[in-house]
Amino acid sequence: MRWTTAKIRQSFLDFFAERGHTIVPSASLIPKGDPTLLFVNAGMVPFKDYFLGVRTPQYLRVVDVQKCLRISGKHNDLEAVGRDTYHHTFFEMLGNWSFGDYYKEEAIRWHWELITKVWGVDPKLLYATVHKDDKESEDIWIKLNVLPRDRILRFGDKDNFWEMGPTGPCGYNSEISIDRGEAACSPEKNHPGQKCFVNVDGCERFIELGNLVFIQYNRDESGKLTPLPKKHVDTGTGLERVAAALQSLETGKILGNYDIDLFQTIIKKIEIAAKELGDGHPYGKNVDSDISYRAIADHARTMTFLIADGVMPGNTDREYVLRRIIRRAARHGRYLGIHRPFLAMAHAGVVEAMGDAYPEIKKAAAKTAEAITQEESRFGETLDRGLELIDTELARIKKSGAHTLPGEIAFKLYDTYGFPLDLTEDVLRNHSIDVDVAGFNRLMEEQKERGRAARKDDAAAPEINLGAGTASRFVGYHTYEGESEVLAAGGKDGDQVAVVVAETPFYPEG
Ligand code: ALA
Repeated sequence: MRWTTAKIRQSFLDFFAERGHTIVPSASLIPKGDPTLLFVNAGMVPFKDYFLGVRTPQYLRVVDVQKCLRISGKHNDLEAVGRDTYHHTFFEMLGNWSFGDYYKEEAIRWHWELITKVWGVDPKLLYATVHKDDKESEDIWIKLNVLPRDRILRFGDKDNFWEMGPTGPCGYNSEISIDRGEAACSPEKNHPGQKCFVNVDGCERFIELGNLVFIQYNRDESGKLTPLPKKHVDTGTGLERVAAALQSLETGKILGNYDIDLFQTIIKKIEIAAKELGDGHPYGKNVDSDISYRAIADHARTMTFLIADGVMPGNTDREYVLRRIIRRAARHGRYLGIHRPFLAMAHAGVVEAMGDAYPEIKKAAAKTAEAITQEESRFGETLDRGLELIDTELARIKKSGAHTLPGEIAFKLYDTYGFPLDLTEDVLRNHSIDVDVAGFNRLMEEQKERGRAARKDDAAAPEINLGAGTASRFVGYHTYEGESEVLAAGGKDGDQVAVVVAETPFYPEG
């Protein structure tokens, strides 16, 4: 194969390096000093301060491949993952940047050159879009004289004004899309009756090959746009879709993102797991198990990269996102008939496919495999029972003609069986049943309230005075248990006791 994913990645870096850009490595998925974001969701995030003019960049032209996660906030693709062939939570974004240096003309011209000359895409397959008020970009496309006028399309804010989130640097954009031919159109599958075209949601025929954002404003908390001191270029190209497009052209088959060489390496590992531990369905033979294959492959990348960037599964913020991802992937394993921990095998596929480009995942491989397996084992104990409860409830709901799972059941699934709400929703989506989210939230709030009240009680616990001069020897460096002599003891209010022992493995604080 000529255009392997690795080769496309490198060709992008080389192309812009030849045009005066400095190649920089991907930043961590965890944004540095940006409380507005949980994860880096676009290539421009690590450069935000350069756009805002609050930090001075070392180079005015930069090119990179940035690890991105679209799993929370404004850009969240989690619910679509697996169900179609091109959404991801984790993906790689190719990007070139101008920090107050070149602007629209070069950005457009170079991307055209890259796509048509380097990657060899026939111009007849391509379309450009511009914002309806961005005459400057439209004129550049017209002057370039590479596309007929009816393939330079105008759209409004929804499609051609790009923002990273509710606040931050933003501006008009121009996109380049490829028409992959009628055979790539699958309306009955995604949106019955829909006509495929550029910017039609769910269309797998017209795919974006490059998003060129011309950053010129900052949006503040009140929603107001203020012009920035300088104008910048921020581009984003999803590596996986470029690979799908180029590999389709090369093979004459319509390939989705999960069919590219990189994902096939991961999916092969999942197939081995399904064969050894599950029902053995390979990828590409059954619509339902294919959804699970794609979701597992996607989630395996997300967990691999998050752990390598220092996140561990837990109950709050980023940690909880990771936990949810591992649990969702474990549940998809059940749909492949796998009832044992297996995600470390998928993770090994990620390291094989991507470890050369991202050495950090190789370095963290052992730790990652262990953390994933531990989380999977813990959840495995309650996952089956939770799924059984859902089945029982589904039968009851369907019989009654209702369409909603009661909040108490969703809460029980959360509280007793460790099902994050989105996991329950995802299972039910296949049956067109909703969850009473308001009821669930009410019960969550009540639980938090109980927790707060209990902590207050703790804080009000009476101090027990054992007198001065009693000290313990700490033995916790050598042992976690042992027998010792009680030096002092006291009690108050019937059930509060305190003891001081001669030797203890409990570390005394202060
Ligand atoms: N920042 C733009 C995007 O994420 C390029 O699509």
